[in-house]
Amino acid sequence: MDREMKNEITLEFDAVSVNEGFARVAVAAFITSVNPTIEEISDVKTALSEAVTNAIIHGYEEKEGKVRVVCLLEGDRLTVEVKDKGKGIENVERAMEPLYTTKPELERSGMGFAFMEAFMDELEVESAVGEGTTVRMRKKLGTESYLGDEE
Ligand SMILES: Nc1ncnc2c1ncn2[C@@H]1O[C@H](COP(=O)(O)OP(=O)(O)O)[C@@H](O)[C@H]1O
Ligand SMILES: [Mg+2]
Repeated sequence: MDREMKNEITLEFDAVSVNEGFARVAVAAFITSVNPTIEEISDVKTALSEAVTNAIIHGYEEKEGKVRVVCLLEGDRLTVEVKDKGKGIENVERAMEPLYTTKPELERSGMGFAFMEAFMDELEVESAVGEGTTVRMRKKLGTESYLGDEE
């Protein structure tokens, strides 16, 4: 396989938490073509879950809406974008600080962005109040599983 091949998928689904599992499995299946390690798959799934959960519970505050996930592979470099058209974030820098949360009643409060940052190589957040939020994460995959099985 050509390791610099470009491949992109888009998933769009209702902002309900049952769809989180679907998104995790779909993205995990999508990235298998570049031989990620088990750990890398798990990292991507965790980061994705955090971003999708945020779109549902913070972006739409559990009201109706659509979440869009775009995954792009350029060779073994993965970009995952999670977009919502929800309420947006007033102060992105503050929101990304570990332990900062506007919903302290939730489990693992305030660690979502910290996990995304820890499990992926890069994290960017764009947001506008009343318009929505886009979380973009990048990670290089398959770095340890490459055993020279290419032609
Ligand atoms: N998609 C989003 N839309 C609106 N606000 C968001 C979104 N994602 C994150 N936030 C804001 O950023 C804060 C921090 O997010 P996070 O680190 O995941 O912690 P937690 O979800 O536990 O609150 C949230 O409490 C919320 O105020
Ligand atoms: Mg969160």
